[in-house]
Amino acid sequence: MFETDVQDVPQEALTGSLPSESQIARLLHEAYARCAEVTTGEVADYIPALAEADPALFGLSLTEVDGTGHRVGDTAALFTIQSISKAFVLALVCEAIGHQEVHRVVGVNNTGLPFNSVIALELNDGNPMNPMVNAGAIATTALVPGATAEEKWWTLHEGLSRFAGRSLELDTRVLDSESASNHRNQGIADLLTSYDRLHADPAEMVDLYTRQCSLLVTADDLAVMGATLADGGINPVTGERVVSPEVCRDTLSVLAACGMYELSGEWLFEIGLPAKSGVSGGIVAIAPGKGALGAFSPPLDRAGNSVRGQRACAHLSRALGLNLFASRPHPAKDAEHA
Ligand code: DON
Repeated sequence: MFETDVQDVPQEALTGSLPSESQIARLLHEAYARCAEVTTGEVADYIPALAEADPALFGLSLTEVDGTGHRVGDTAALFTIQSISKAFVLALVCEAIGHQEVHRVVGVNNTGLPFNSVIALELNDGNPMNPMVNAGAIATTALVPGATAEEKWWTLHEGLSRFAGRSLELDTRVLDSESASNHRNQGIADLLTSYDRLHADPAEMVDLYTRQCSLLVTADDLAVMGATLADGGINPVTGERVVSPEVCRDTLSVLAACGMYELSGEWLFEIGLPAKSGVSGGIVAIAPGKGALGAFSPPLDRAGNSVRGQRACAHLSRALGLNLFASRPHPAKDAEHA
């Protein structure tokens, strides 16, 4: 851990600004039109109920930190949040127990292996490695405050709903379908227990994790949830504080390193934003101090990331100037080299 005693970070260093609203609307429509033509990728079918998703659905939504929303396409279509829940459960747990404890118990390094890898756990002496892979997500869910699984569920459901600014509903069909087929996650939880890294009932924690994955959201919800992380923890639509600015910073750093699984490096190289994907086809990408993109399109690449969603984020990251790693020379030096 690298602790520093820096107290006063200049506010102008933390924020930038987005283009005008009319430019955002135009660029969002342009990204939609370009990416709607893409037909590659496969709809997830390892959870039987997910295989029924319509591959043609496509929505792009952007929420600015002042609460202004922009949208195009199927942004009101409901889908299960799946792994995107991991980002927001991590934020709730960091808020409740502090980031040092999450670092100690779960870890924050990329595994370089698929999200449901068992080998990653074995290779790392049972260390889940990060909260975005299933092992780390189940371990993180077990850290949610609550004496019983039902109390933890209440905290988790209430917290995720505050990020979205509305009460999220459960898709019981997807929940039942995944519960009947999630033998690998049950194995991962049992393995965590065997390494003495899960201090709660493994079957109950997998059930809780499966429930959090089965909450229904829209691309518009994802944009608002992401914009809350972009806005120092205040939901820009409801005005409610959900988590602290420090928790947003910690959560976004984990998303940058691990949010797109083993393709996180390529994602950062191309798009340069913290982000999280889910197997239903959702992606949330966050531009700190500016806003967040919510994308939905069910066909996925081999790592489980939406193909159209990734392309749209790549386009918009460039067009809107969102890449965190982009910089320009100081104007005086720039003039010397002109
Ligand atoms: O654990 C699972 O298999 C799912 N409920 C969530 C996986 C997921 O979304 C992976 N992300 N792309």
